[in-house]
Amino acid sequence: QEDIFKNVVSHAKEYGFIFPSSEVYDGLSAVYDYAQNGVELKKNIREYWWKSMVQMNENIVGLDAAILMHPTTWKASGHVDAFNDPLIDNKDSKKRYRADVLVEDFAEKIHQKAQKEIDKAKARFGDAFNEQEFVTTNARVIEYLAREKEIRERLGRSLGAGDLEDVKALIEELEIADPETGSKNWTDVKQFNLMFGTKLGASAENAMDLYLRPETAQGIFVNFLNVQKSGRMKVPFGIAQTGKAFRNEIVARQFIFRMREFEQMEMQFFVRPGEEMKSYEYWKETRLKWHLSLGLGKENYRFHDHEKLAHYANAAADIEFNFPFGFKELEGIHSRTDFDLKAHEEYSGRKLQYFDPELNENYVPYVVETSVGLDRMFLAVFATSLKEETLEDGSERTVLKLPAVLAPTKAAVLPLVKKDGLPEISRKIIEDLKWDFNVAYDEKDAVGRRYRRQDALGTPFCITVDHQTLEDETVTIRHRDTMKQDRVKIADLRGIIENEVSM
Ligand code: GAP
Repeated sequence: QEDIFKNVVSHAKEYGFIFPSSEVYDGLSAVYDYAQNGVELKKNIREYWWKSMVQMNENIVGLDAAILMHPTTWKASGHVDAFNDPLIDNKDSKKRYRADVLVEDFAEKIHQKAQKEIDKAKARFGDAFNEQEFVTTNARVIEYLAREKEIRERLGRSLGAGDLEDVKALIEELEIADPETGSKNWTDVKQFNLMFGTKLGASAENAMDLYLRPETAQGIFVNFLNVQKSGRMKVPFGIAQTGKAFRNEIVARQFIFRMREFEQMEMQFFVRPGEEMKSYEYWKETRLKWHLSLGLGKENYRFHDHEKLAHYANAAADIEFNFPFGFKELEGIHSRTDFDLKAHEEYSGRKLQYFDPELNENYVPYVVETSVGLDRMFLAVFATSLKEETLEDGSERTVLKLPAVLAPTKAAVLPLVKKDGLPEISRKIIEDLKWDFNVAYDEKDAVGRRYRRQDALGTPFCITVDHQTLEDETVTIRHRDTMKQDRVKIADLRGIIENEVSM
């Protein structure tokens, strides 16, 4: 698994997807830049989300609020007082870790042991294998899963109650070691606020302390009534937003999984008080379906219902994804009650209420939120799509089997040779297709090597122009995943590509 992860990171760099930030200065920890292909993939994921949330739902509208907000926002939201991570230092290595992550990783390892037993049995019994039954009857699996559950529950209870001593006790009881040095010599657990501070204004005395937003959600809450009134929105309705968020994370070399500057895609859905649980269940299912629609494999997703609830929530679940380092949170779905709107009413002295014409009543709506990290989506898609294949002739190829709708480049046009008018025809094909798709041109190296390069970039189609093209206006179109080639008319190319890459 470690090797797979290393491959992901180096492939992302070598093929122009992701570079470390300010690399000439040896980089900046947990900050990354998206390169020429990465920026396209990221944009396509964002658009895929936006279309399904905003374009497809009459009662969801978009917003692009500023990153900088009035500082009282973060008092009201609870972030100044409660947006903390429990940190623990190792006395020997002097390394700092998130105490909750150390425990979660331990629980995940136990989960992997159970999974190994299941996989072994699956391989042994083949089609006759009944996983449900196995999980409830195999003594070892039962023990592992029970232990995992017990540890997660205890962690949830301790964090929920702010009992940091118990988190430390748990780490000691489980004999969790420093992942890098193996030392078990820990300090106490301390809270650490994650917000980045900055200043507004030039003079030292008058400067106002601001924060870079740690979530995009608050920009939606403070605009709730503006959007509702100007858009004549009726509850239930939603506001969707994508944008940067900042957290001073303590990170454990997980590439773009946990970044200090990252992008969120969030949607707050405003409902009548009392209807939030129905909406919460609806959005849990709907968001899982959205993920599954990308075809990365059902087995790579699972729900994790929270025992420990954030200060604003009355129900919360994660959609977890099977990353190269195990199942981890990809998206959060939270029932946030009326906590945020009420808090902003209190701190601002302004009413944030909705008049419901059907009930003939004013109320502060309840909120169900869906929140997914764009960079985490990127990592999920990228890592799962990257494959090393051994072909029939024994040769190897690296192929990035991205969902075609997300691929940075949809087709590459390749003249078989650099003469006889083939480059000119290729350019003409590009001229015609580029209004609708990102199309690349490549004439360098043998055509086989050009195919491999496009495979590694995730390009779903290669269009090859050869001497026959001069005679009958046909080309070959090669499919990335099957490597099958068809002879088709130039005039049919648009339809063929469209069919594969549209949402
Ligand atoms: N408004 C709710 C909220 O911000 P969260 O669970 O803290 O909830 C939501 O974050 C999502 O944002 C996560 O599921 C994750 O995908 C992404 N995310 C959070 N912190 C991140 C980080 N440091 N780097 C990358 N993505 C992050």
